[in-house]
Amino acid sequence: MMKVYLETMGCQMNRLDSELVASALRAAGMELTDDAKAADVLLYNTCSVRAHAEDKVHSRLGWACQRKAGGKRLIVGVLGCMAQRLGDELVRRHRGVDIVCGPGQLARVGEMIAAAGEGAPQVALDPSRRETLADDDVMERLDGGRDPAVTHLPGQAYVRIMRGCNKFCAYCVVPLVRGPERSRSDDAIAEEVRRLVDAGVTQVTLLGQTVNSYRYEANGRSVGLADLLMQLDSIAGLRRLRFVTSYPADFDTAILEAMRNLPSVCEYLHIPAQSGSDAVLRAMGRRYSRREYDELIDRARETVPGIAIAGDFIVGFPGETDEDFAASADLVRRSRYKNSFVFKYSPRPDTTADKRLADSVPDEVKRRRNNELLAVQEEVSLAANRAMIGQRVEVLVEGASPRAHRQGGSAPAGEVQLLGRTRTDHIAVFDGPEPLAGQYVQIEITDATGLTLIARQV
Ligand code: 5AD
Ligand code: SF4
Repeated sequence: MMKVYLETMGCQMNRLDSELVASALRAAGMELTDDAKAADVLLYNTCSVRAHAEDKVHSRLGWACQRKAGGKRLIVGVLGCMAQRLGDELVRRHRGVDIVCGPGQLARVGEMIAAAGEGAPQVALDPSRRETLADDDVMERLDGGRDPAVTHLPGQAYVRIMRGCNKFCAYCVVPLVRGPERSRSDDAIAEEVRRLVDAGVTQVTLLGQTVNSYRYEANGRSVGLADLLMQLDSIAGLRRLRFVTSYPADFDTAILEAMRNLPSVCEYLHIPAQSGSDAVLRAMGRRYSRREYDELIDRARETVPGIAIAGDFIVGFPGETDEDFAASADLVRRSRYKNSFVFKYSPRPDTTADKRLADSVPDEVKRRRNNELLAVQEEVSLAANRAMIGQRVEVLVEGASPRAHRQGGSAPAGEVQLLGRTRTDHIAVFDGPEPLAGQYVQIEITDATGLTLIARQV
């Protein structure tokens, strides 16, 4: 049996793509392995969002191609965003790459493996943005055919509700590699969720680059995200429903009301600001002002009691001054984020920022701002987490905690330290038996760090 090693970089969308590819390959009679050295096929599902993510893939490919050059029989494939961005260039740079497959062509990976080694490398890229819009079938092949038994964590699944992006933020490569924004049919999504729930899934995370822009129109019907949430909430057995990532403009209050009113929709919003400064937001081509963002956060907190909000920031965008940066730090304090992801600006070829603006902020300044912003976030998170001590909450158990959070001693016999998440996406660790993965457990929070709630089962 052919052994396939599949490594995934990047976002949740990529994790889902990899799961779908893995289940298709298994159905085609291949075996997945975690051991790259034992594999006959090496696949890298790649990310182009920052140079660092691409550098990692180049070094993996260097290693793989060197082994091939040394006489090892191997099929090497590059999938996803970087495959789409670089295309043939990958084959020229790394002699030994057999497969280059864009994110919209992943349904073909199985055929491409079967045909690999017969002559020239195979390159399957998505058509131009305009051509993609004319072809909505491609989109359903991968998602519609998924095996509901294969998910990233026990009892949890990602479900794509849209592809692509039309926002064209100045720094971002996504619209260039993932194509135009397309929403899947609400019926296809509901059918997929139903099949997953029948297979034991209780938590579904809906995925899209700008999920609040979801809009499906057919036969005179027009379905937005709030309508979709309502439709999915009625599926018996679905206990938790989340959606990521939201864009801070055109955020319909109906979505917040759905979050407040529908029992399954979790009180959690990931809504990246990217910067707290109007000058930087404008340069980034974000379609909202700082004041509008602040008002949205206020509206979310007023509408949804207990909501947790997470953000993303880019530091060191071209022209970012100390005052601009201070405005981002102020925004972290004001928004009281549960957590923030902070990234140093990384120029991406062919984006408008890269074409028009020099990467003017020195790397050491980026690094310092990155650390400072994380320190502010840590302060905010720690205060909020400490305020939760004594509360009883429900978590969905993911499994054994990868890192032990403990002052000393170890878990009682027959138990391990488990990691679970609250409805608000807070991470909690507590001792319990490993088979609890995928189950819901009541815990009492006894201590907290900035990142983790420490708890005991009740
Ligand atoms: N440089 C640094 N960070 C970026 N992001 C997107 N593009 C870039 C870039 N060129 C960040 C944004 C986005 C997250 C997924 O990655 O914060 O929300
Ligand atoms: Fe995901 Fe964007 Fe990276 Fe592609 S470029 S994997 S869409 S984060």
